[in-house]
Amino acid sequence: MANLITSFRYICLGLLLYAHSMCAMAQWPRGGSTRFYDFKVQTMSVTKLCNTKEIVTINKMFPGPVVYAEEDDRVIIKVTNETPHNATIHWHGVRQMLSCWSDGPSYITQCPIQAGQTFTYEFTLVQQKGTLLWHAHVSWLRATVHGAIVIYPKAGVPYLFKYPYEEHIIILGEYWMRDVVQLEQAVVASGGGPPPADAFTINGHPGPKYNCSNNDVYKIDVVPGKTYLLRIISAALNMENFFAIANHKLTIVEADGEYTKPFTTDRVMLGPGQTLNVLVTADQKIGRYSMGMGPYMSARNIPFQNITSVAYFQYLGAIPSSVALPAPLPSFNDNLAVKTVMDGLKSLNPINVPKEIDTNLFITIGLNVQKCRSKNPQQNCQGTNGGVMAASMNNISFIRPNISVLQAYYKKINGYFTEDFPGVPLQFYDFVNGAPNTPPNDTQSVNGTRIKVLEYGARVQVILQDTGTVSTENHPIHLHGYSFYVVGYGTGNYNPQTANFNLVDPPYMNVIGVPVGGWAAIRFTADNPGVWFMHCHLEIHLSWGLSTVFIVKNGQGALETLPHPPADLPRC
Ligand code: C2O
Repeated sequence: MANLITSFRYICLGLLLYAHSMCAMAQWPRGGSTRFYDFKVQTMSVTKLCNTKEIVTINKMFPGPVVYAEEDDRVIIKVTNETPHNATIHWHGVRQMLSCWSDGPSYITQCPIQAGQTFTYEFTLVQQKGTLLWHAHVSWLRATVHGAIVIYPKAGVPYLFKYPYEEHIIILGEYWMRDVVQLEQAVVASGGGPPPADAFTINGHPGPKYNCSNNDVYKIDVVPGKTYLLRIISAALNMENFFAIANHKLTIVEADGEYTKPFTTDRVMLGPGQTLNVLVTADQKIGRYSMGMGPYMSARNIPFQNITSVAYFQYLGAIPSSVALPAPLPSFNDNLAVKTVMDGLKSLNPINVPKEIDTNLFITIGLNVQKCRSKNPQQNCQGTNGGVMAASMNNISFIRPNISVLQAYYKKINGYFTEDFPGVPLQFYDFVNGAPNTPPNDTQSVNGTRIKVLEYGARVQVILQDTGTVSTENHPIHLHGYSFYVVGYGTGNYNPQTANFNLVDPPYMNVIGVPVGGWAAIRFTADNPGVWFMHCHLEIHLSWGLSTVFIVKNGQGALETLPHPPADLPRC
């Protein structure tokens, strides 16, 4: 496995392109560099947990290669699919200004890249810096097809935090011994819930608490007294996770690729898709300390992996065989620990939060159980009370069409979606405590490809409200194509009279972990035309339909209009 830091030199081929042939982009800021990457989707055999199997990777690396760039750079990534599986790559957190075609979610902005085919993604990192991630956005391939995006400030611009001695990428993941594509198909076909992962992993390594993994451990060597920047990324599939380092404080300085006021904490929680940059100072006595990744499970009755993945934060001079102090992880259902970290996230810089709102949406998020319609209930109706599990927004379970929504919209092909996603739930009731909950009788959702059209430039507020149907749960909701200000959140039902909003320094994020049995309010200005997926980043919930799509219309002129599709857009 390539060391992420040293591999930088071999894969980061930044080239300066003076001539730029894309006329449509000519007026966009061009930071100077165009960075080219070659991604080959390839299978590779790995042995973990005493089990050998083929996994899908990029360039036979797990985790995959790091995409390095600077703010405002153009990034061009040629993706060639050398596997028999369908593939797409999503550049998670990249705002894709006027480049919706390169966003990557399958059947939303593109059809998958089929076996043997190639697609070149192109986008500009307009005013973006910090840590993001890329990942496959088809089936559950994301489990092994993921990697970091590191965007440095422009040359000569310093970090707005204490300059670290060194930087390290920490990717939290989940590992299955089964083939994840088959696993998704089997779980969805069963109607029931997914099995837990076989291991949590830190940069692909389960660590010493797992079978056969004493030497399958990630380690950072640190110099006493120095400060390190950890770029922590959650690429987990179906779990949210705590992360902590024994005896060391973490100071959060960036969340989802945006600066935050420095906030010091003993532990952090990341839902899938979230990223945090934290500073850690090696200020303890020389020794070996555990970095631990453990579960945060806020829902009831869901089996989960409960073994900590451990990596080492090891001082130079420590005895290599010394026992590592355990990391102080909260218990798996410690909602307060999650709230404490959220309360600490505030934007560092002056911000531009919409004060007036043109479009107000209220969206419930949660699980459903459909009635069993199968002739063979044992096989296909393994959900609660013999039903079929589903999930929804405003009680609509999103069905992805078999061509992409973007192509259907752009080419005005009728029949693939309807523009009637409701802006409010059909009924208002006590969503948290009074939700219908006699599965499967009153817990059904409606299936549909219903999308919401937004006017160009609309200032949008979305209230995301968790429901108690089946179980309340913290849902990491991700919006493509935008970051949003998290202006408020709380437990219970959203009440506009009592809700406290922060319009002064709310964090600017692309995933919001909506509190379990609670709500969150987000705001953004719809200034990027295209088709943008919004979904729960727990992969099983995505499979079950916990998503919807915003179509943001074009505005005036070329700078507010989505360009034509690239010529090599995969065919459906
Ligand atoms: Cu990180 Cu739609 O995904």
